[in-house]
Amino acid sequence: MLSDLLDNNKAWADRMEAEHPGFFKQLAAQQKPEYLWVGCSDSRVPANEIVGLLPGELFVHRNIANMVLHTDLNCISVLHYAVEVLQVKHIIVCGHYGCGGVAAALGNKDLGLIDNWLRHLKDIGYSNREILSTQENEQARVNLLCELNVQQQVANICRTKVVQKAWKKGQDLTVHGWIYSIEDGVIKDLQVDVKDFDAMPDIYCVE
Ligand code: CO
Repeated sequence: MLSDLLDNNKAWADRMEAEHPGFFKQLAAQQKPEYLWVGCSDSRVPANEIVGLLPGELFVHRNIANMVLHTDLNCISVLHYAVEVLQVKHIIVCGHYGCGGVAAALGNKDLGLIDNWLRHLKDIGYSNREILSTQENEQARVNLLCELNVQQQVANICRTKVVQKAWKKGQDLTVHGWIYSIEDGVIKDLQVDVKDFDAMPDIYCVE
């Protein structure tokens, strides 16, 4: 029942206020999150909950298959606000194994409008077709592409003007690639952190 959601909300707000007196009043005055989360829209991967953060601690952008595309004004605007105004110190791209978007991109079905979005995943799959073809089954191919996608999105974030400008100013900003397992609730760090221009291919550098 939809009304249950509103009842749940009231109970949650009362509980939060009881546990942390003045919590909402303080948050209403300002937000100062240290993290930007870029995750999948999948209902099984709720950002704040899986990393134990409270309201005010995580700035969030979610879309199908946690992608950062330079022509996506929504995502780039979130990134811009997070880096320039909120001055987050960490940007976390968190993919998840068994991602439906990634699985769909490895198939050939006509799914309609979403094919245009999934096309970016196909490009990553095609660039990595050799390693993907060595996987023993479809599930392993999907999971490997989930990881490769996270790595590509970390690179895409680093290649934005927003992030490069921040690094040029000496802002402390690290981009991380993580992946979540829906099967056990555990996040794995893919160890692909980037915090400066060092590994940036020249063609993506902004003067
Ligand atoms: Co997903």
